[in-house]
Amino acid sequence: MTQSETSPSSGGTKRRDLLTTATVTLGCAGACALAVPFLTSLKNPAATTLSDKTLEVDLSSLAPGQDMTVQWQDWPIFIQRRTPQMLAALQTPAHIATLRDADSKMLQQPKDATNWHRSVRPDYGVLVGICTHLGCVPSFEKPGSAPEAEGGYFCPCHGSHFDAAGRVAQRAPAPYNLPVPPVTFLSDTKIRIGHSAGDPGFSMSDIQQI
Ligand code: FES
Repeated sequence: MTQSETSPSSGGTKRRDLLTTATVTLGCAGACALAVPFLTSLKNPAATTLSDKTLEVDLSSLAPGQDMTVQWQDWPIFIQRRTPQMLAALQTPAHIATLRDADSKMLQQPKDATNWHRSVRPDYGVLVGICTHLGCVPSFEKPGSAPEAEGGYFCPCHGSHFDAAGRVAQRAPAPYNLPVPPVTFLSDTKIRIGHSAGDPGFSMSDIQQI
């Protein structure tokens, strides 16, 4: 199955937990109403869609601690440039103890992002910006904006917290970590989203829940 077959616009099957399906049907009215205008505003000049539906993104303007959002297929994609402080915060035992799936055992990412930073390179994080609870779009929490938020994400719909690696907090209503798309670094400051050189067989349809 190709990646485009799993995109929201293609009607590909989603594997959101059956327990939440009925609620999703009702809740999507609000969440989707938020997501559609959000997506239409994602015209980022740093991103170029290629003919094979992969997305090339120039990261050269992204300063440490900053994030940017681009659109790949019909998903918002969060890209963050992590500081040494953000990376240190991801590894503290006290923080790890608060996470539901600290070791990314659930299949929410390609193999080359199945690590403590959930990314190909520790200094850049790339995540699908769709909450795994009912599909709202979380917001970036700048490093230092809150004691527990060293560059993480907060979903305003029902209060799920994700850390800078997209790992969900144990007490959050969201059941899974944020999905990670396939990513390849073309240079130090350019990535391609939609293909993983480290896990070439990976497809978004492999993701447990998006
Ligand atoms: S949609 Fe419910 S916490 Fe995000």
